[in-house]
Amino acid sequence: MPTSIISGVEELARRRGFFWQSSEIYGGISGLYDYGHLGTLLKRKFENQWRNYFIEEGYYEIEATDIMPENVFRASGHLQNFVDPIVKCKKCGNKERADHIIEDELKENFEGLAPEELTKLIKKHNIKCPKCKGGLESVETLNMMFSVDIGVGQGNKAYMRPETAQGCYVNFKRAFEHLRKKLPLGLAIVGKAYRNEISPRNILLRMREFTQAELQIFFDPDTITEHEDFDSVKNYKLRLFPVKNRANNKIEEITCAEAIKIGLPKFYVYHMAKIQKFYLDFLKLPKDILRFKELSEEERAFYNKYHWDIELLIPEIGWKEVAGIHYRTDHDLGGHQKISKKDLSVTIEGKKILPHVLELSFGVDRNIFAMLALGYKEDKDRIVLKLPRMLSPFYAAVFPLVNKDNIPEKAEQVKELLKNNFLVFYDDSGSIGRRYRRTDEIGVALGITIDHQTLEDDTVTLRDRDSMKQVRVKVADLNNVIFRYLHGEDVENLGK
Ligand code: GAP
Repeated sequence: MPTSIISGVEELARRRGFFWQSSEIYGGISGLYDYGHLGTLLKRKFENQWRNYFIEEGYYEIEATDIMPENVFRASGHLQNFVDPIVKCKKCGNKERADHIIEDELKENFEGLAPEELTKLIKKHNIKCPKCKGGLESVETLNMMFSVDIGVGQGNKAYMRPETAQGCYVNFKRAFEHLRKKLPLGLAIVGKAYRNEISPRNILLRMREFTQAELQIFFDPDTITEHEDFDSVKNYKLRLFPVKNRANNKIEEITCAEAIKIGLPKFYVYHMAKIQKFYLDFLKLPKDILRFKELSEEERAFYNKYHWDIELLIPEIGWKEVAGIHYRTDHDLGGHQKISKKDLSVTIEGKKILPHVLELSFGVDRNIFAMLALGYKEDKDRIVLKLPRMLSPFYAAVFPLVNKDNIPEKAEQVKELLKNNFLVFYDDSGSIGRRYRRTDEIGVALGITIDHQTLEDDTVTLRDRDSMKQVRVKVADLNNVIFRYLHGEDVENLGK
């Protein structure tokens, strides 16, 4: 068995069909991954749960193209500002991301520092090329977007979008007309983003093609200090890691009402609570592995006024950003208005407004990877993937205990009973112990075993993946019992 969690996840992912390097028969390209049947099921579960949770009434999902014309990124600022610091080795010519090689050497995060600052650090600490130990040149910048030429000859210059967000901004005015002509208006895109990362690393954590789930909330800037449901979260405690606590590494828990007093607007804080509840109440992760990290002025993305990342504590990796909550002001609509020369303001009750944007931005692959690493456990005789119940690729597996005495027929009936509500895994080969092991390591939440007693009293054994506890429940109650289990009910209560 692999000894490290990350190599264990990677091995399991390849062996059972979660993910592996894309085009591997040709040697693969770093930063590009393909998902197999289980990885795709898991990813769709995450995306669909995200949709169910964040796309509330009056908000809508749209789909925009991955390729967008150059002017989109002139307007958004990506052409000028979406750059990474790179440094070249004087001896072997190897190019690396400057902040990453400094981080590897000094064990500190230097993301966001200007090239001059990074050059100074390299000189001060005499940092060398990680490949050949040669000296390094001064740090420069490289735009991270992939460019494409559309058409033949003097075609139009375009780019693969580096974030899904721009698809919502360029369509905002039309969507506003189609919808209720009201603010706030939420537009979501779940789709691909592309970044020419200089040093992709840690499997799904830094990829060159990845999936984002982003919600852009367009609102009247005069209402940023309000939220109609704020009272429902005012006593809810957020886990914050503000810039001022970097030195003592302290996470503080303060209520949403207290967060207002430290200068965050209500509209922003309400959504912080919503995101934290997604991880803690909905996915039921333990609270000590989540924090909101405030980004300093130098670290913030160029379009943000307020910027806190949501970080999860990933085993062997440490705190890692999986999502962000960004107050983008009118940076994007203002930019698009200027370059497209189209008026993107709206008029509500006689008031002309250029809406501001609050963005909730999630990396789907990063979240998937975090869930896999957090859930991966090895003990002496099993590997188990303790995924959040809601994200299990299959919520339940049906096992006929033996392949005789009408038990397979009854198991088929049970599968039919469940299959309209839940995706069910069916396994009738090998001993029951081996079948449990096979489904434990792919994260199937519940095992349903059909045995001789089932034929007598129409009950089955339900086995919980994580605790291995078993209870007997009536076949007629199964749909309801699985539903309660997914929403967090203790296994022992399910038989009652
Ligand atoms: N629209 C805002 C935006 O794109 P970001 O912080 O650059 O903000 C949002 O990206 C999320 O996308 C991150 O929190 C992360 O989860 C994910 N992400 C960003 N770059 C990634 C990469 N190279 N590979 C995998 N996920 C990435």
